[in-house]
Amino acid sequence: MNTAIAHPNIALVKYWGKRDAALNLPAVPSLSLTLSGWHTRTQVQWGAERDELILDDEPRTDPKVFRVLDLLAQHAAIPRPPCRVVSHNDFPTGAGLASSASGFAALVVAGAGAAGLELSRGELSMLARRGSGSACRSLYGGFVQWHLGTAPDGTDSVAEPVAPPEHWDVRMVVAVVSEGPKSTGSTEGMERSRKSSPLWSTWLELGPPLVEQARQAVMARDLEALGTVMERSTYSMYSTMFTATPPLLYWQPATVALLHEVAALRARGVGAWATMDAGPQVKVLCLPGDVQTIQSALAPHALRTLAHGPGPGAYLEP
Ligand code: DP6
Repeated sequence: MNTAIAHPNIALVKYWGKRDAALNLPAVPSLSLTLSGWHTRTQVQWGAERDELILDDEPRTDPKVFRVLDLLAQHAAIPRPPCRVVSHNDFPTGAGLASSASGFAALVVAGAGAAGLELSRGELSMLARRGSGSACRSLYGGFVQWHLGTAPDGTDSVAEPVAPPEHWDVRMVVAVVSEGPKSTGSTEGMERSRKSSPLWSTWLELGPPLVEQARQAVMARDLEALGTVMERSTYSMYSTMFTATPPLLYWQPATVALLHEVAALRARGVGAWATMDAGPQVKVLCLPGDVQTIQSALAPHALRTLAHGPGPGAYLEP
């Protein structure tokens, strides 16, 4: 039991900024949708010759991976032997498609399995958060809220399921604009926004009400309300990026073309709302019946388009 599967999640209300960088505690609460389809598959060998990471068939150096395994061992009060980690994403890594979320979620589940530990989902989520904030949400399926919390040690800043995947059959159409790695990683980007954007305090104020509105829209299965809140969170986050020094420009020309297509679709009465993360890809929230229309409209501006529904939380391969 040492191989785990985890799916990426896309934030409907964004996490952008940390109130504690060492513990990876967020400056704002967030709410996400775990996707079906794409996945990270990670195998951990607990006891190897040396620490070794193979990501997408290439040897890599990522101290965070072994730091998270150290935390896992510390948490269970056991020694950590050298580990071999082999991980594979069936989608582009580090391109703003939430590969760190599924990556660290799969790592902690596989690591705990390999070490023979029976940890709760909450404990695994907390450990995944230390690798990458958004990873704490990929432990759960469907719609997931990551609470802001107030405790300095982060014990109340936990992810919690809002509704399971079967609650609401929505779709996220992903228009892939670039498969290359992003110019500035999320950690560095959010730190730059926090330190230099004059809009930062407004961003902090917006977080809690946006999450509450999104939660209510999910419970009521109100796509227009959810899409509107998602766009508000997205563009507010981008406002802190554009007004940072130097500015963070994750968009490509095709990103803007896609945003215009989404606006044109809505003007035609199609229920389509756009979001982006720290990268140029555009993700469109919609209902299954509109997927084809939306994919046809977006295809001319994208390398490829895919549609994913709500997916499950991270799990050990039997
Ligand atoms: C824009 O979780 O990748 O995708 O905690 O520094 O590893 P770190 O950042 P990460 O940030 C994700 C930011 C985002 C929005 C979101 O997923 O909520």
